[in-house]
Amino acid sequence: MTNGEVIWEEASRCLSQRCGRAGMGEITRRWPFQNRRVPFELVVREPPITGDSLGHKTWGSSFLLAQLLDNFTSGSLAHLLGPDCRDSLSVLELGSGTGLLGIAAAAMWQVDVVLSDLPEIMPNLDYNIEQNLATVERLGGKLSSGVLTWGSKNGNHSRFSRENTFNIILAADGIYDDNHPDLLSSAIHEQLLDSADSRAIVMTPIRDEVTMKLIVQFQSRMNSGALPLVALEEHILTGQDDWGDDESQAVECWWAIFGRQPA
Ligand SMILES: C[S@@+](CC[C@H](N)C(=O)[O-])C[C@H]1O[C@@H](n2cnc3c(N)ncnc32)[C@H](O)[C@@H]1O
Repeated sequence: MTNGEVIWEEASRCLSQRCGRAGMGEITRRWPFQNRRVPFELVVREPPITGDSLGHKTWGSSFLLAQLLDNFTSGSLAHLLGPDCRDSLSVLELGSGTGLLGIAAAAMWQVDVVLSDLPEIMPNLDYNIEQNLATVERLGGKLSSGVLTWGSKNGNHSRFSRENTFNIILAADGIYDDNHPDLLSSAIHEQLLDSADSRAIVMTPIRDEVTMKLIVQFQSRMNSGALPLVALEEHILTGQDDWGDDESQAVECWWAIFGRQPA
């Protein structure tokens, strides 16, 4: 089940043509994480998308990346997610949207995760955090949130004014507009701890050739500046997307783990 099970739906309201959910009103979806020692389920509310409020929908790559999170514990992030390090670890999700990925990370990694997005997305994000808090805390994780607009110093939560504090940054589906390579990479450069151990994990669907170019630009921006970051790993996975007219069409998703260039 890649797009979650819709459990209820209200009267439909006007939606953006871009989101492929024309005719759908507010929905709540259940997201099961079953194939693990302690199974759990998250419940996420998705209000109707109006204008550019794309963060009111849970996009395919956030669930795809969430399903990989357990693998990182003994794999690429083992140096950060060992039982002795977790208490002091801080994780940030950029462009959280409905929050599925960041909430799942807190539950699966048993760490403190800060979820963030644009001001207009925060009320629903905070609602979803509240709805899943008991599940996350039962599993040993912690959740909090704050406004963080990439490339802006205005209106962000005060916790982000002290820069370069997060050991891990997550971002799903944040590279789809011309300015995103600059904006998303600048937010990562500002917030990622300046340490050889720090990692940024970024996944985005390759919807067309333009997205492919944006990904190349993003990698080049990540590799520049005072804290150059390179892709230590790169992968392609097939997931589901419903950006177009056709619900749940398959789409290839590029993802990479960024860190400092190994010495
Ligand atoms: C396509 S949605 C993906 C949401 C979520 N990560 C997911 O995969 O379901 C892109 C997200 O990035 C956020 N976003 C876009 N531009 C942003 C910016 N300049 N600063 C902060 N967040 C931004 C949007 O509000 C939205 O939540």
